[in-house]
Amino acid sequence: MKMSPSRRTALQALALAAGGVALPGFANPAGSEPTLDQLARGPSLDALARMKGLRFGSTLGSLGRASRFHDTAYRELTGRECSVLVAENETKWPQMRPDPNKPYDFRAADEMFAWAKSRGMALRGHTLLWLEAKWLPGWLNALNYGSGDGEAARRMLDDHIRTTCSHFGDSIESWDVVNEAIAPETGELRRNVFSAPIGGVEQIDLAFRLARQHAPKAQLVYNDYMSWGGGNNARHRTGVLKLLTELKRRGTPVQALGIQGHIGANPSEAPAQRTAEWRRWLDDVMALDLDLLITEFDVNDKGLPADFSQRDAIVAAAARDWLDVTLAVPRLNRFLCWGLGDKYSWLHDFDPREDKLPKRPLPYDDQLRAKPLRTAIADALRAMPAR
Ligand code: XIL
Repeated sequence: MKMSPSRRTALQALALAAGGVALPGFANPAGSEPTLDQLARGPSLDALARMKGLRFGSTLGSLGRASRFHDTAYRELTGRECSVLVAENETKWPQMRPDPNKPYDFRAADEMFAWAKSRGMALRGHTLLWLEAKWLPGWLNALNYGSGDGEAARRMLDDHIRTTCSHFGDSIESWDVVNEAIAPETGELRRNVFSAPIGGVEQIDLAFRLARQHAPKAQLVYNDYMSWGGGNNARHRTGVLKLLTELKRRGTPVQALGIQGHIGANPSEAPAQRTAEWRRWLDDVMALDLDLLITEFDVNDKGLPADFSQRDAIVAAAARDWLDVTLAVPRLNRFLCWGLGDKYSWLHDFDPREDKLPKRPLPYDDQLRAKPLRTAIADALRAMPAR
């Protein structure tokens, strides 16, 4: 029986996790397999990506969870593996402007971006308008614009996008202009402080037009977390496709879709079906004439076995399946992880495991040792078609 590449990756991962035990079909005698760390000392993920016409990146941050930017080993790992950097929280509205009576505070982002530029890395901006009220500044949510003519609300959005884009200038090659506009539960647009005075799709259209005006050279991206699988993900995909279709119809200057790629690894879902549906949906998006990015990749290991090596193998196999389909899209040219090491993953706080064990969603572990997920990403990059 011919083995699929993803199955082979999973088995190799299991074998490596089990200390390099040889599996049928793998001629290497026990003990002679390179360790994951040895493999990781080969070409960086960015070097592998570049061989295919793609660039690989990740996020760093100094606000929120302990500063990963000031953790020298972690930062250096990011510098070695990546050529694109995005700030995890430091270019978001509430972080840059917690108090409307004070000027914007760009220091945290500037410090990281200066480091990235000194390493020749490209920068992504994230995000000018995050639709969900929970992620907007509290003071903004508290404003009462009513549903008048919307002039004051439009001025507020203009002021934010102009101030932010002017500060960073052309150094940011790509902006997530609008983040997470669709509610997965309904597939409809979320509502926020701008919904009544400006409108739902109108505020999104306006944000893109303002970004075009104030960041004339940047790629303008709509970013969201719809993924493969049924239920909310299926509704989410439908809603995002509908929104993108409407934006294109209006002539909104959206140039690309950012697929966050916070994927799950639930092995009980029918793999062939979810892969086929995901491929079909990507085809539908591509028919809208958009570029594609993976902007925040990680694999949620909630519900997976407690045992680290079993868990890591399932995570790696799910990543490989998802990446094989997603990286096959010719217009995908950036691939960013949401962090490289488990230690700082946002998922510890956002979506803890029921057994309270540490989560393992990223390519390196707490001690920055390479995991099977790193190998799965490297293998997917090696296997993908060049662009
Ligand atoms: C997350 C950060 O990682 C956390 O530190 C913060 O508390 C909340 O936001 N989708 C996005 C990112 O677009 O901005 C989110 O980042 C993760 C989900």
